[in-house]
Amino acid sequence: MFVSDALGVNELDHLTIGGADAVELAGTYGTPLYVMDEDLIRKNARAFRGSVERHYGGKGHVAFASKAFCCKEICRIMQEEGLWLDVVSGGELYTALAAGFPAEHIFFHGNNKSVEELAEALDKNVGRIVVDHFFEMELLSQLAQAAGKTVDIQMRIKPGVEAHTHKFIQTGQIDSKFGFALETGEALEGIRTALSLPNLRLRGLHCHIGSQIFEITSFTVAARVMLGLAAQAKSELDWTMEELNLGGGFGIKYLTEHSHAPYEDFMEAVSRTIGDTCRQMNLPLPCIIIEPGRSIVGSAGITLYQIGAIKEIPGIRTYLSVDGGMADNPRYALYQSEYEMLLAGRATAPKTGAYTVAGRCCESGDLLGKEIPLPKPRVGEVLAVLATGAYNYSMASNYNRLPKPAVVMVRDGKARVVVRRETYEDVASHDV
Ligand code: LLP
Repeated sequence: MFVSDALGVNELDHLTIGGADAVELAGTYGTPLYVMDEDLIRKNARAFRGSVERHYGGKGHVAFASKAFCCKEICRIMQEEGLWLDVVSGGELYTALAAGFPAEHIFFHGNNKSVEELAEALDKNVGRIVVDHFFEMELLSQLAQAAGKTVDIQMRIKPGVEAHTHKFIQTGQIDSKFGFALETGEALEGIRTALSLPNLRLRGLHCHIGSQIFEITSFTVAARVMLGLAAQAKSELDWTMEELNLGGGFGIKYLTEHSHAPYEDFMEAVSRTIGDTCRQMNLPLPCIIIEPGRSIVGSAGITLYQIGAIKEIPGIRTYLSVDGGMADNPRYALYQSEYEMLLAGRATAPKTGAYTVAGRCCESGDLLGKEIPLPKPRVGEVLAVLATGAYNYSMASNYNRLPKPAVVMVRDGKARVVVRRETYEDVASHDV
């Protein structure tokens, strides 16, 4: 009935998430409010891990891409589920370590890591640093020598595979700020350099071809291209790729009309491609790594808002304003991302009108969606925006000095705050 398995309807016709009444949650914790269903997060994490067991003989790791949703509690949950973690900044690394996440199970990404971030990663013995460019490679080699350590690295490659997704989030093609280009020979040159520099141990290659991808073939093509590079590196440089990291990007259902193959099918197809290609190219089977972010947390989250001003502009549109907006969910403003919405207190009421849902920022583009079908709303009702678990909280800002909402995790109908709501004092706390 809904875009996410986390959701249901109770006898009051209220939306439920993880068994908890969304109207009650809004009343208890205030709005705007991010709510996450812990069981669905765990189920998704297990599905990915299980698929590596079933289709790839367990020879691999699933690293949760924490950029999708980063806080201490999600790091703890991922650790409990046996996942590794992908971090992309000193802040994400700090959060993971502060949550007690084992450093050796962390991949550190980024196209412009600072000297301090690299030094911190070395100091904490982060599992893999995913090197993005020549300068970083040299810098890391020097830092590692100074620290008297040898560091395990992977190299980020742009394999030139085009993924069918919004162009802003395509990252595998040559015109991208990420990684070493394959077509130009830069990737092979990078491998040669990595092998020549002291205190670096090149364990494998990484690519990430985009996000919100539905087509499994995008990944199998990327895997084949990456293995082609590995074969070339083996014959020309006598280097054997131990690890193949295929990044994340698996699409989720934002709208009823979206559908994606089970994530199990992804691993089955990719495993078969890797097996066949390795046989053809006479390569040993690499350890596989995937880095799902959105597909673990996206569908598990909703955002609850209180409806305020409703402004009908005759013959044009009706604006329905909520007490959040682009500051807690910039994805419509950035990518025109579409979401399904409903009134949490009348979850199954017929949707008789269409509304443009506006935020409260001082900006005309501060919208959460246009022409959203809803029952005729009343001021004070709770609006639920669905499938907001990924790249909402993590992309939130304090524009207009709006405090960031709390994040509540629900399990077995019981809620707990995992990120407390910011106060005005928090927002002004760095002002001098
Ligand atoms: N690994 C790497 C190296 C990545 O760059 C990303 C996402 C992921 C894994 C996880 O991808 P996922 O499974 O979540 O699709 N802000 C955009 C998404 C940007 C994704 C950037 N990289 C959005 O809101 O749609």
